Amino acid sequence: MNKEKRTAIIAGNWKMNKTASEAKELIESLIPLVKDAGCTVIIGVPFTDIAVAVDLTKGTNIHVAAQNVHFKDSGAYTGEISPRMLTEAGVEYVIIGHSERRQYFGETDETVNLRARAALAAGLKPIICVGESLEQREAGVTEEFVCRQVVMALLNMTAEDLANVVIAYEPIWAIGTGKTATKEQAEEVCAFIRKVVEENYSKAVADALTIQYGGSMNAGNAADLLSMEDIDGGLIGGASLKPNDFAVIVGAASK
Ligand code: PGA
Repeated sequence: MNKEKRTAIIAGNWKMNKTASEAKELIESLIPLVKDAGCTVIIGVPFTDIAVAVDLTKGTNIHVAAQNVHFKDSGAYTGEISPRMLTEAGVEYVIIGHSERRQYFGETDETVNLRARAALAAGLKPIICVGESLEQREAGVTEEFVCRQVVMALLNMTAEDLANVVIAYEPIWAIGTGKTATKEQAEEVCAFIRKVVEENYSKAVADALTIQYGGSMNAGNAADLLSMEDIDGGLIGGASLKPNDFAVIVGAASK
């Protein structure tokens, strides 16, 4: 069993929710609830909440993630944020390639790879999201599709890079729908992703990689999903906006 050796990570993905003053309130309630966590705790906040999040979580066990990053260091890219802007602001992690970005904002496997590599080069840890649509699952091409997403996302990354990468398996049909994958469905794909990484790198790299499940994970189903061998944590949308629920999920991931 390698699960025990891996870092369990519970990451909140706030999406486009919470103004800075609302973020302050949420973080202040969350800090005491997760202070004894036995896993890594991350909050993925909107850009405008980064300053308040970094400030409030200083000296706590909560880490701050952004929800996107550009791959260039600076330049004429209106509306984008560079890796260095994030590191200087105190951000440690960045969510990349979320299905909402792929679906609504033209994110592709290629830009996911560029963003993830730029993040790594700047010292940020990317949480790379992959996952199939309902149509793909029903057509029986989940593994083929997810394999391609994983291989493309990790293109030109070294084994050393992989030590700082997190992969989040998020079936699109389970995101924000209240329809969670069963623990068997989630485990099957997370184990498959680990196999793909083993084939492209090594067993040691694959065994050490944190793979999260995301998609309607909540206080009620987290323990069950997290009990699976290849599910090392969660990327949590809706439930991350409720401090008590998020703390229950953190507790379920704590060893
Ligand atoms: P959800 O979102 O937990 O609200 O389904 C998960 C995600 O999109 O990361």
